[in-house]
Amino acid sequence: MKLNENFSNLNKNYLFLKISKKIQEFEKESPKKNIIKLGIGDVTLPLCDAAIEAMQKALLEMGKKETFRGYGPEGGYDFLKQGVQWYYQKRDVDLDLDEIFISDGAKNDVANILDIFGLNNVSLIPDPVYPVYLDTNIMAGNKILYLQANVENNFLPMPDEAMKADIIYLCSPNNPTGEVYDSIGLKKWIDYAIKMEAIILFDAAYEAFISEDSLPHSIFEIEGAKKCAIEFCSLSKTAGFTGTRCSYTIIPKELKFGGRSLNDFWLRRQTTKFNGVPYIIQRGAEAIFTERGQMQVTESIAYYKENARVITQALKKLDIWFTGGKNSPYIWMKTPKNLTSWEFFDVLLSEAGVVGTPGLGFGANGEGFFRLTAFGNKGDTVEAVSRLRACVMNLGR
Ligand code: MLT
Repeated sequence: MKLNENFSNLNKNYLFLKISKKIQEFEKESPKKNIIKLGIGDVTLPLCDAAIEAMQKALLEMGKKETFRGYGPEGGYDFLKQGVQWYYQKRDVDLDLDEIFISDGAKNDVANILDIFGLNNVSLIPDPVYPVYLDTNIMAGNKILYLQANVENNFLPMPDEAMKADIIYLCSPNNPTGEVYDSIGLKKWIDYAIKMEAIILFDAAYEAFISEDSLPHSIFEIEGAKKCAIEFCSLSKTAGFTGTRCSYTIIPKELKFGGRSLNDFWLRRQTTKFNGVPYIIQRGAEAIFTERGQMQVTESIAYYKENARVITQALKKLDIWFTGGKNSPYIWMKTPKNLTSWEFFDVLLSEAGVVGTPGLGFGANGEGFFRLTAFGNKGDTVEAVSRLRACVMNLGR
């Protein structure tokens, strides 16, 4: 029996597990302290009425012989795929239903997609970025090239033909920096990928937070993308499905390498290893892709954006450099007094009882930075900001 030795090359704990362990330790030591968590990007508002009503109806259907459903189609029910299709059509992106795969999380799909690629690929991974890309590539034993994102390039690195990559990860709006590629930037990535015969894995999980009309929500809004990209998106952040789990992955049928269809490969993978998202959840998700559902989720997103405004305004007053918060629920700030990102994490937790995410957890270039999420509830966010202000001012003394 041989183990996958690549696991020995991973950091001991997944980033957000490490943080929750630190919080648990702190809670044990200081049980009276009221901790405000602006760390992991988990939502706080409940599911919208449209989704709840649809799920209640679906639940009752499951209790009647005539309407009960067992296994559904592995790739998702057509009623939900039609909703996704409608959503993309609004941005002039035409998709066939069999280009849409319903799943139980963008994280799962972005990790599992490596099943359809061969061994020893070279993956180009932004630094900093959502840690799942790096960890899953380490697990797969792929060679990793880092795409340097930093203040100089506004955390939006562009392709460099000297870097020969097979699999390119892009996340826009970016987790953790909140920066967004414009159409020109994405077109350059598409041209590069086509030239390199590489694939772009495009994570659009935060697209619903884009405020500026000119910015693309989907890579498929850009010409050529259907030849080189797979897109992952999720209802977790858009519609509060972090605990209910529903996402969608788009694999165009045009996407072929050596005459082989990636859509066929993924269908084969999913039908073997996945039995689909529960019917009740898919009915709830379907309700998001209606005018009423869209109106309701837009209200929740506006609530989170107001939190982002409160946070960014405080940072401006403190004269702390930051990005994000405008087209994203994340605010990426420079740590005060040149503290390392974990030092600032510890100070903020122990002095202010506020949890954020240390930038180093997203890659070496995240050192000296810190991420705050706007997904908290309003009262907590206002309180956290006032504690953060006091903590930073104290550091200055
Ligand atoms: C984050 O905080 O980066 C996200 O919540 C993680 C995730 O979506 O898995």
